[in-house]
Amino acid sequence: MVKKIGWALLIALVAIQFIRPAKNQTLAPQTNAIQTKYAVPDPVASILKKACNDCHSNNTAYPWYANIQPVYWWLNDHVQEGKRELNFDEYTHKRLRYQYHKMEEVIEQVKEGEMPLNSYTWPHTDARLTPNEKNALTQWAQQVMDTLKANHPLDSLIRPKKPTPPQTTLNENAEHRPDADDRRERPGTN
Ligand code: HEC
Repeated sequence: MVKKIGWALLIALVAIQFIRPAKNQTLAPQTNAIQTKYAVPDPVASILKKACNDCHSNNTAYPWYANIQPVYWWLNDHVQEGKRELNFDEYTHKRLRYQYHKMEEVIEQVKEGEMPLNSYTWPHTDARLTPNEKNALTQWAQQVMDTLKANHPLDSLIRPKKPTPPQTTLNENAEHRPDADDRRERPGTN
């Protein structure tokens, strides 16, 4: 019995080695990369490279164990999710508000130690950021925001505040006063 389960597992393990989503790698020039429009000093570029870009760019440097399933699936999930949230190679063609907000997020995530993910810094010991590296990264993100602020009006970077709640309630009441239209929409209620 135990032997049979062992064989079944082994066969399953071999079989899943062939199910593999495409790697996140490209040789194409990244024309929308953040450094095409914003200054990225070398020290910051190397921090991004060693600690962020594996999940937030169009090029991942895979470790050897990425060749083993199901490890690759698990890594691939992180890469896809990370890229969806923020991709430094697809940055400059995003809306200005997006660009501005993502830098706020970078500052927050790095200060709070949320990024890079713990599951990443555990094997990638060089991605564990020192206080100096964290400072360099957050100051740079602030500089990107400052550049945006210097070149664009503030309301193109930050969504204007919605009207205050009392006003909204008033408007809603005005709009939803039952009238002929309302009754027509609800057949059977009169
Ligand atoms: C191992 C993959 C991985 C690495 C490395 C990594 N991230 Fe992430 N990042 C993710 C994933 C997955 C998410 C989305 C889920 C979450 O927030 O936990 C995310 C979310 C984020 C967000 C949130 C975006 C938003 O709008 O909410 C920011 C900002 C971010 N990462 C910045 C960084 C920075 C800066 C680094 C390097 C210092 C980094 N990440 C390293 C995988 C990674």
